[in-house]
Amino acid sequence: MLHIVLSSLSFSYLAALCLYRLFFHPLHRYPGPTIAALTGWYELYHNIFQGGGLVAEIEKLHELYGPVVRIGPNTLHFNDWHAYHDIYTHGTTLVKEPRFYRGINAHARESSAGFLNPQEARNRRALLAPSFSRQAVMKLEYTIQLKVDQLVSLLREHYSSPDSAAKISIAYRSLTTDVITDYCFANSMNTLADPNFSHPVAQQTRDLVKRFWIQVHFPFIIDIVQSLPEKFVLWLIPYFASFVDVKARFERQIDSLISNLDATDHETVFHNLLAPKDPQMRPSRTSLVHEAFTLIGAGSDTVGHACTVGTYFALQDHSISIRLAEELRKAWPDEDRSMSFSALEKLPYLTAFIKEALRMSIGVIHPLPRIVSDETPEIGGLKLPAGTIVAMSHYFMQMNPGIFGDPYTFNPDRWLVRDTDKMMLNFVPFGKGPRQWEADLKLGKD
Ligand code: HEM
Repeated sequence: MLHIVLSSLSFSYLAALCLYRLFFHPLHRYPGPTIAALTGWYELYHNIFQGGGLVAEIEKLHELYGPVVRIGPNTLHFNDWHAYHDIYTHGTTLVKEPRFYRGINAHARESSAGFLNPQEARNRRALLAPSFSRQAVMKLEYTIQLKVDQLVSLLREHYSSPDSAAKISIAYRSLTTDVITDYCFANSMNTLADPNFSHPVAQQTRDLVKRFWIQVHFPFIIDIVQSLPEKFVLWLIPYFASFVDVKARFERQIDSLISNLDATDHETVFHNLLAPKDPQMRPSRTSLVHEAFTLIGAGSDTVGHACTVGTYFALQDHSISIRLAEELRKAWPDEDRSMSFSALEKLPYLTAFIKEALRMSIGVIHPLPRIVSDETPEIGGLKLPAGTIVAMSHYFMQMNPGIFGDPYTFNPDRWLVRDTDKMMLNFVPFGKGPRQWEADLKLGKD
């Protein structure tokens, strides 16, 4: 008898929920697939079972329904550049959506990317900002050059015969991992020591991204795993071994830096974190480890991917590689002498090439969800109820055919026109607002 009552109650609850979401929910008038209006499992299905195909699906939905689509019971996705700027501009009244951000930052919740509280995030960014000023990064030129030289000699030594092949995407990830770990700890992970580019850290980023969706959609799994003794977790899920190794490595690096802060040969990001002007702002040890995960994750895969995309298109279209080589040869006659960044950034075709590689690589493609608050002004001309989740993938900005004609063609020349203002408004590889330092850095502004 009891089970009949329970089943009837559950059924009635589900039926009422479905009716509410379809006909009475504040977003019920927005177009989109019925299944998406009913359940968040729609997103899960595309992220997990369709290999991360959510953005491809959303693209079809926009073609069908227009610039605003309901992709979840409480979520709207936009394909409108005004809306993008309304959502992500600095000083926004929207906040990061906790389920998504807690999931993707499961091991880095107390870091710049993981803080949900806007004030905590601002405080952390203030500590990080000096490390990413143009002046600070220019000091790293020599270190970066050493790593690039290491990669080039490795490729020359092991991969110059016509029957050899290097997996360049992993090679670049190894390079970027070594650069960013050096900048964090003055002690590079030296993944380039392995000429096969098979260092687990450089290989793992892909697996990590796959794990994101499990973390986002089943957050309790991570909470359980984190509450269990490490040895037990490793016995149960040996897959976590590399994560545990990396964490232990970060802890050792941070401890060693804490005790030898003045003994490093160059300043690091962690110098700024460990010795802030206001000592009360110094992050806890846990938070430092979390920041290491964020910085190494954010700084290695994205840059490695952009380099891979650029290389792919330069090799695919000889006219591009010929023009690059011509410009470089003119400016850099003696290739045995290194060339300064300030000279390289003045080369127009190279700069256009890098912009195009950043445009087409779309470092972060998944829509980044934000929650509307009572104070939020209109988004894309719409006044939305507080609590609504809104997002717009960078894909729709950087592949906008109205702005970037023939957007799927890799064409550095599109940047070599007098007026690039409209394109720059849609060119947001690093997102908007508080991270503008990343953009300024890479696009060579002071
Ligand atoms: C091609 C290279 C890169 C691309 C395309 C890229 C893209 C992005 C994007 C789109 C975000 C926003 C994520 C969000 O709002 O949730 C982000 C955040 C972040 N990135 Fe990058 N990034 C790149 C390189 C780097 C590098 C080299 C670093 C430095 C180590 C870095 C550090 C960060 C940090 C710390 C955050 C989170 C901080 C915050 O939310 O304010 N990124 N990046």
